[in-house]
Amino acid sequence: MATERKALFVFFGGTGDLAYRKLYPSLFNLYRKGNLRSHFAVIGTSRQAMDDDKFREAVRKSLADSGNRADSKEATDFSSHFYYQAHDVTNTAHYSVLKEAADKLDKKYKLEGNRIFYLSMAPQFFGTIAQDLKSQGLMSTNKGAFNRLVIEKPFGRDYDSAKQLNDALSKSFEEEQIFRIDHYLGKEMIQNIEALRFGNTLVESLWNNRYIDNIQVTLSEKLGVEERASYYDNSGALRDMVQNHIMQIVSLLAMEQPVAFTDTDIRAEKVKALRSLRVYNVADAATNFVRGQYGSINDQPDYRHEDNVPEDSTTETFVAGKLLFDNYRWSGTPFYVRTGKMLADKFTRVDVVFKRPLVDIFAFPQSQNTPLAANVLTIFVEPHAGFSLQLNAKTNDAGFSTEPIKLDYLVDAEKSKDTPEPYERLLHDVLKGDGTNFSSWPEVSYAWKFVDQIRRVWDLQEPQFPNYTPHSMGPAAAEELIQRDHREWIYRLNK
Ligand code: BG6
Repeated sequence: MATERKALFVFFGGTGDLAYRKLYPSLFNLYRKGNLRSHFAVIGTSRQAMDDDKFREAVRKSLADSGNRADSKEATDFSSHFYYQAHDVTNTAHYSVLKEAADKLDKKYKLEGNRIFYLSMAPQFFGTIAQDLKSQGLMSTNKGAFNRLVIEKPFGRDYDSAKQLNDALSKSFEEEQIFRIDHYLGKEMIQNIEALRFGNTLVESLWNNRYIDNIQVTLSEKLGVEERASYYDNSGALRDMVQNHIMQIVSLLAMEQPVAFTDTDIRAEKVKALRSLRVYNVADAATNFVRGQYGSINDQPDYRHEDNVPEDSTTETFVAGKLLFDNYRWSGTPFYVRTGKMLADKFTRVDVVFKRPLVDIFAFPQSQNTPLAANVLTIFVEPHAGFSLQLNAKTNDAGFSTEPIKLDYLVDAEKSKDTPEPYERLLHDVLKGDGTNFSSWPEVSYAWKFVDQIRRVWDLQEPQFPNYTPHSMGPAAAEELIQRDHREWIYRLNK
């Protein structure tokens, strides 16, 4: 039985793409499951003028676009909880109007003062909004009620700007009231990393530098920059994907076992892991990280000729790097990461490569046997969800040769239909006040400190772009990076 939660949601950027595409359909799913029922209300805000009816119509359309029936009784009832308020976030007087609306809805729906403020807009306004929410009395003071602030990325563009932003937010909200969204943390198989590691003696007892040779994290995207160039060109793959999603995945893979499965304990271990991540000096940053930008193919333009991209842009659309942890568990076991746009395919996976047996007794001198392959545990995050474990087994014949075989577990299509979307899970977590799957400030700050060093080095050198062919797995430098260590990427194009 779902537990009904009571809350008022205030969406800043309430008519934006994210709200219509992800947030409202996710709230609808929570509504259908009973996590939201009669005691909730939503205020959508943006600068444009609109009345409640038009807004509700747009909300129903967003449900239809995500595969629901917009004319069902459920959709109509759900959208009747939505209200619209034109709002200029830089105009303090507007917050008093918003407060009145919020208080009215609170009474009408008996929300007990619980408030969730969701900022899905340009980050330069986050500080002002947080400040005015407090100064204009929008934050509820009811005893036992909660005030929560949800923010979308980017959280700064380097450590200094992130710190400034965080300082501004913390004038109004405590750390445990701030929910920094990283939608990768809402993905089923990313959450499964903890189950895989801490639910299996077989896995966790081998999860260290004695048995693991290296770990590879690949976030590959097939599309180019599409219509987001004005944001992306100021960001690049390092800030867009590495600082947040990849660092979060790596910290889940690298952390020690938490004392308990609670947000405080998990965050504490992730922070400890990130603290032991080696921050590179100039020379090491230059050798351990490589970047790329996609060229053209057929009649498809290269990155520099995409709409809204300057012709001399040096923004990277690909990153590969090696991360090293200076701690007892991981010393000597590198984590290789890579991500990029316009690559061969759209997928996310983690490959955990175990060390080969110290002695290969099957490789006696007269043997025709190929050397034993490494055991590899792959976590398929997307598009398919599952695990695969590569072991060596005897070939099924009269001689004695070995060959790698795979034990596969793939979540079947029927089951994965019931898997909640990341935003549904994350919104539910916010309602419950569970911060496990959100980035805490210490995590964000260590991630920036690491990434800033790489950026600093890159900013000193003019890259030779473009340097990779669309639909490949990135520039030659990404191959060299790993081959230099006598290793290779487990996912290769011909596999
Ligand atoms: C976002 C990035 O955070 O993640 C995008 O800003 C990227 O550039 C996207 O395309 C990838 O997310 P997903 O869930 O499609 O892998």
